[in-house]
Amino acid sequence: MRVKLVAGNWKMNGNLASNQALLQALIPALSPIAGVECVVCAPFPYLFQLQQALHGSSIAWGAQDLCQFDNGAYTGGVSAAMLADFGCRYVIVGHSERRSVFGETDKIVALKFAQALKAGLTPILCVGETLGERDSGVTEMTVARQLDAVIAHSGVKTLAQAVIAYEPVWAIGTGKTATPAQAQAVHAFIRNRLAATDAAVAGGVLILYGGSVKAASAAQLFAMPDIDGGLIGGASLIVGEFAAICRAAQPAA
Ligand code: 13P
Repeated sequence: MRVKLVAGNWKMNGNLASNQALLQALIPALSPIAGVECVVCAPFPYLFQLQQALHGSSIAWGAQDLCQFDNGAYTGGVSAAMLADFGCRYVIVGHSERRSVFGETDKIVALKFAQALKAGLTPILCVGETLGERDSGVTEMTVARQLDAVIAHSGVKTLAQAVIAYEPVWAIGTGKTATPAQAQAVHAFIRNRLAATDAAVAGGVLILYGGSVKAASAAQLFAMPDIDGGLIGGASLIVGEFAAICRAAQPAA
């Protein structure tokens, strides 16, 4: 049986003081939730703070992006090795905000995914369609294209060391959560597509849902057979909300 995973994506929010308050409240609130891996992903400057605060706790931490190259002359870049240096276990790769705002192509996302693996990090690979793509009936084609770029570069087996996050762009930060049935349909599509080439990888890989998940909607989403947890934006900045979402992922006893 697959474990559950809930990751908070703080996006470009927080400061030293607010982060410290959030982390000090999260440690007891999330410690430990049996059967659920809880993760927080902070902006680069705060990774040292996460390492200091969360070391020895039940909460893992990660970054929201990484550079597609090894250390070298890449001004402003942050490498996978640097993330590993700060104890990151996870890194979000190919978030739709990186794709749409920062111009990341499928090819760049594939390179970043490979860099994460090389440094021993677990990439959380984000895929998802825009509203226009959903309305034109190309949701599956879009998600397949995004996945295939990574598989073509690194091979399907590498997904055994990765996590996939399905985040419909129209549901991110909009308050419009996909219904459990809508999300499940795409999650099943992803798993079935992987199963066509590697059943073991398909059966083991965690597929998270992201997009306006709140404490009130989490349990129904996480109850779906192919939804293995969530990637949480806005609600991950609120202790009570994030803790309730993590608890909602707990398998029934
Ligand atoms: P929201 O939960 O704020 O919609 O953000 C989702 C997301 O983009 C997580 O990566």
